[in-house]
Amino acid sequence: MNYKIAVIPGDGIGPEVIGEALKVLDAVGEKYGHTFEYTKVLAGGCAIDEKGECLPQETVDVCRSSDAVLLGAVGGWKWDTLPGDKRPERALLGLRKELGLFANLRPALLFEELAEACPLKPEIVEGGLDIVVVRELTGGIYFGEKGTVDTDLGPAAYDVEQYAEEEVRRIAKVAFDMAMKRNKKLTSVDKANVLESSRLWRRIVAEVAEDYPEVEVNNFYVDNAAMQLVRNPKQFDVIVTSNIFGDILSDEASMITGSIGMLPSASLANGNFGMYEPVHGSAPDIAGQDIANPMATILSAAMMLRYTFGLGDEADCIENAVKKVLADGYRTADIAKDGEAVTGTAEIGRLIKEAI
Ligand code: IPM
Ligand code: MG
Repeated sequence: MNYKIAVIPGDGIGPEVIGEALKVLDAVGEKYGHTFEYTKVLAGGCAIDEKGECLPQETVDVCRSSDAVLLGAVGGWKWDTLPGDKRPERALLGLRKELGLFANLRPALLFEELAEACPLKPEIVEGGLDIVVVRELTGGIYFGEKGTVDTDLGPAAYDVEQYAEEEVRRIAKVAFDMAMKRNKKLTSVDKANVLESSRLWRRIVAEVAEDYPEVEVNNFYVDNAAMQLVRNPKQFDVIVTSNIFGDILSDEASMITGSIGMLPSASLANGNFGMYEPVHGSAPDIAGQDIANPMATILSAAMMLRYTFGLGDEADCIENAVKKVLADGYRTADIAKDGEAVTGTAEIGRLIKEAI
């Protein structure tokens, strides 16, 4: 088969890690008889520099006419002083909205080989950690009404958290389906003791739960969830939550695995279309030095094969190649222990390709 992939290298370490992921994809294509056709497009800071806007229409058009999107990272110091609506990060929000990517899957997996990188006590994570945060991605406070007003206390600004029942229903279904494929355990996170939108969230999740009698569901307030994630993370399997709570909890969940440089993510629309990107950002401080960890992007490419193209064996092949390189002892700087030898970005990519 021939698959069309829109590739957005972006800023910072984005182009380097994307370069390695494409090499690995090509190797998988060769092995299994697929061709991946890449169209590179601009988004983020580089698009601001070249086209005067962070998300040119051409980029959106190319993404829409592709089967999937693979993204590196956007943003950097250079553009940090631009006003909020002109910053490179707006490109991400624009892509999510324009492409209808309402379901964000963020696995937080503790790799056995890297267990020592986990900042929690060994007894807390004994036996490993395997959590997926299912974050709503196109609604809530990120996209609600916003503005400025004059108040009794002077000038003020606001952002509205609003959820339609249907927005909650569709993300809840994604999460329940995910739970069915895993351990049939789902935690919904909200702030229903305070927020009206959270009470609606909780009610709709309960409604959807009726269609999934095998799934054990519990509801956590977000403050408690944040605390439980470090106290006893093993109690979680699939977590479903709103856009902003998911933003925060997915960073926390990825940090407790100790390997944020290792974690991929998928943002899915209705049907099979999706955008895939590493969870880490653009890391401008280490860009262009051949020290970034390309594994999260390579694993994002594996997620793309699995979720959008339905190529499970090919995805397994990439994941196993990454595990093999780790088991053979190769480490980029972010995951190396003190005194351990460090391998560069391109060499890690080459080793994974060789293991395909
Ligand atoms: C993320 C990021 C983005 C978000 C920013 C860069 C807009 O933090 O993908 O988690 O808040 O969604
Ligand atoms: Mg975030």
